[in-house]
Amino acid sequence: MRMSDVLRHLRQQQATTGARPRLLHRYAGFLPVSADTPPLSLGEGFTPLVHARTLGRAIGCPELFLKYEGMNPTGSFKDRGMVVAVAKALEAGAKAVICASTGNTSASAAAYGASAGIEVIVVLPAGRIAAGKLLQAQVAGARVVAIDGNFDDALRVVRELAANGDGIGHPVTLVNSVNPYRLEGQKTAAFEVCDDLGGAPDYLAIPVGNAGNISAYWMGFTDYRDAGLVETRPVMLGFQAAGAAPIVEGHPIEHPETVATAIRIGNPASWEKAVRARDESGGRIEAVTDEQILDAYRDLARYEGVFCEPASAASVAGVRKLAAEGAIDPGATIVCVLTGHGLKDPDTARRNVVPTLAAAPTVEGVVEALGW
Ligand code: F0G
Repeated sequence: MRMSDVLRHLRQQQATTGARPRLLHRYAGFLPVSADTPPLSLGEGFTPLVHARTLGRAIGCPELFLKYEGMNPTGSFKDRGMVVAVAKALEAGAKAVICASTGNTSASAAAYGASAGIEVIVVLPAGRIAAGKLLQAQVAGARVVAIDGNFDDALRVVRELAANGDGIGHPVTLVNSVNPYRLEGQKTAAFEVCDDLGGAPDYLAIPVGNAGNISAYWMGFTDYRDAGLVETRPVMLGFQAAGAAPIVEGHPIEHPETVATAIRIGNPASWEKAVRARDESGGRIEAVTDEQILDAYRDLARYEGVFCEPASAASVAGVRKLAAEGAIDPGATIVCVLTGHGLKDPDTARRNVVPTLAAAPTVEGVVEALGW
């Protein structure tokens, strides 16, 4: 055999045995996909499960793990659901998709829509979208409409547009998490958690906005249990941003400048499903304050090297709060879902760092700046 043949042979072998698998192939048996579903993929899923040893010890929960969903292609968990929703829309002959968003859904819809070659329309609450998220949608060529209202207003508008079309014969598919394919795709994160741990964790902690993702994880854990792949399901712990409804009182919802705008939602679309997940698992859905969220956000980056977006840190903030109240068994295995990447929101990051040190372009200058 010539050397080039050997190399080609090796490469082919690698392609079949060592290639990165596709999420929808890996879990095809649990998903509503078939040979007719277009093979859409940007490499979603397979995100890291990080053992947070330092933070875990500090909180009093040494078996604390982080499901780092910021490592998805557009930097959030939305990609797991969007790949299924857009593939199914394509399969059904759709030419356009539409969504309301606090930023991550729109970034994901824009990317998968671009990849699928269909039009993407996003409706956003004006002035409340983190810089990175808005740019992601714009760069990918989505048509962005900013309304003078909140997320709930945007969702009401897009639901109506998707139901009725635009009146001149342009059907659009709604890809918010009320689209059932979104939750089907997002449940794969629960499968990965079980696969990585060799069983279900004792607790699964997660930020709650529209309550789609907590519902999707519960579906995933239930599917795996029903298939006999795990014996138990975790206690589900959901955390809303203080000020969001319906469980939190005392704060108005209009907090455009707050840190967790991604999950500050007045009327969560999947609330009943989330309540079922909470009650069937013996769990809780509680609120965490901006201060608690920011503390967790900073500590995750500083002690674990995991930079997530502020809303994501609600899961760790909530676990820290419950652990301090003695509500969590210290020996328990806890998985905190970190739903988005820190680079989504450079403005919050900037407000939470020490300034850079200025120095002359010399060794002496840098030494002096460091105070050595
Ligand atoms: N974490 C982040 C970073 C989010 O962007 C969202 C929701 C959630 C958690 C909550 O997930 O809605 O399924 O309970 N973001 C939506 C959006 C609303 O438009 O990007 P949920």
